[in-house]
Amino acid sequence: MSPSESLNAPASVAKSTPAALYPQHLEILQQRTAEALQRGGFDHLVVPSGTSHYQVFDDRDYPYAVNPQFKHWAPLTRNPGSWLVATPGQRPKIIYLQPFDYWHVVPEAPSGYWAEHFDIVVIRKPEEALQHLPANGTRCAIVGEPQSALDDFVPNNPPAVVNYLEYQRAYKTPYEIAMMREASRIGVRAHRAAERAFRAGASEFGIHLVYCQAALQDANDLPYNNIVALNEHGAVLHYTDRNRLPPRETRSFLIDAGASHHGYASDITRTYAFDRNGEFQALIYAVDNAQQKMCAQVRAGFDYKQLHLDAHLSLARILQEFRLINVSPEVAVETGVSSAFFPHGIGHGIGLQVHDVAGFAESDRGGTIPKPAGHPYLRLTRKLEAGMAVTIEPGIYFIDMLLEELKDKGLGPSVNWDRVSAFKPFGGIRIEDDVVCTDSEPLNLTREQFSAA
Ligand code: GLY
Ligand code: MN
Ligand code: MN
Repeated sequence: MSPSESLNAPASVAKSTPAALYPQHLEILQQRTAEALQRGGFDHLVVPSGTSHYQVFDDRDYPYAVNPQFKHWAPLTRNPGSWLVATPGQRPKIIYLQPFDYWHVVPEAPSGYWAEHFDIVVIRKPEEALQHLPANGTRCAIVGEPQSALDDFVPNNPPAVVNYLEYQRAYKTPYEIAMMREASRIGVRAHRAAERAFRAGASEFGIHLVYCQAALQDANDLPYNNIVALNEHGAVLHYTDRNRLPPRETRSFLIDAGASHHGYASDITRTYAFDRNGEFQALIYAVDNAQQKMCAQVRAGFDYKQLHLDAHLSLARILQEFRLINVSPEVAVETGVSSAFFPHGIGHGIGLQVHDVAGFAESDRGGTIPKPAGHPYLRLTRKLEAGMAVTIEPGIYFIDMLLEELKDKGLGPSVNWDRVSAFKPFGGIRIEDDVVCTDSEPLNLTREQFSAA
């Protein structure tokens, strides 16, 4: 979907079935493919689904991860050795590997709302794909990883083709929004179960298992490694250790966990205080309030870089309000003090990948929009347009290493260290929603589910 064909009635997406939305999705992919091939000077787009990867000096494979360019076309996430062929003016083809194999579960025969839109050939051995790929490999843009090479069909990933397809992937079709809405529904269901486990005093490991059970997903399915952090662990941005035993005292809980649906991701973070009347809870409310205002800025034409920079100011205001800093919010941002408390980007694009591609793309022909100076971890610098889906995930953390650095830089007096000590046992706060930019009001996929009965 180009920005001009953008979403203007997202609510209607909820009421449509995937089967009803899918033909338009496929039509848009075919249009994009025709343009990408024309730019690259190729006749066919060929996309291998990918293969299993093995651990070094071992016969154990890693969990299979499908080529995102493949699952864009159909909800096939467990089909290694398959191929997609798209040729302008023809029905797309899927070469579907269904091996004779008694060691592993074999993919079921192709079926579902997507299948009738393809010419499908079932093969039993990976090399049989060669008989069904285009006759002239040199006329193909082959988009995939090197391990997928089959004879002359070696992924060439032409930049003109890849740049165009990845840039356009930022604009989600109504079908894709429906998939992400379902991924959000599953994630929120599991988040609710995780909060109950936290309130009952479970360990990090126990909460993680409760989450997986409620989502009916595990590491093979989840779009990223769950972050389940109690107390001080909330200050480790990507904490994935998961203690097996509960802490002696449970004070706080930060959970960053998503879910997948038909290849699409949700990415959700919530933070809870065990004592609902304490100051940490008040700080959570303040961040939550600020986060909702940031979500309201997900509007066509708004620069995401600016959203990130504005977030620093609004979080610095909270730091001042809670007497964590001794300087004005403006000075805290200018001197880098706010970055010690909020050391990551405000978010990223999301879709087929939790951190979606082309976040810095200047145009669909390439080029880079740089990150603002002093903000190395921002993952998206594009201007927001209707159809884009992004996360909004501000945080305030109490991270020793970064706070010590402030002292080293002579900025120690900017911080109220007694107040920092009081909050440190709670680790940190992050609140993260997935928000779709539309022609009108932002569509918050996460809040929509949390507010559903
Ligand atoms: N869950 C990873 C992130 O929030 O970006
Ligand atoms: Mn995120
Ligand atoms: Mn996250």
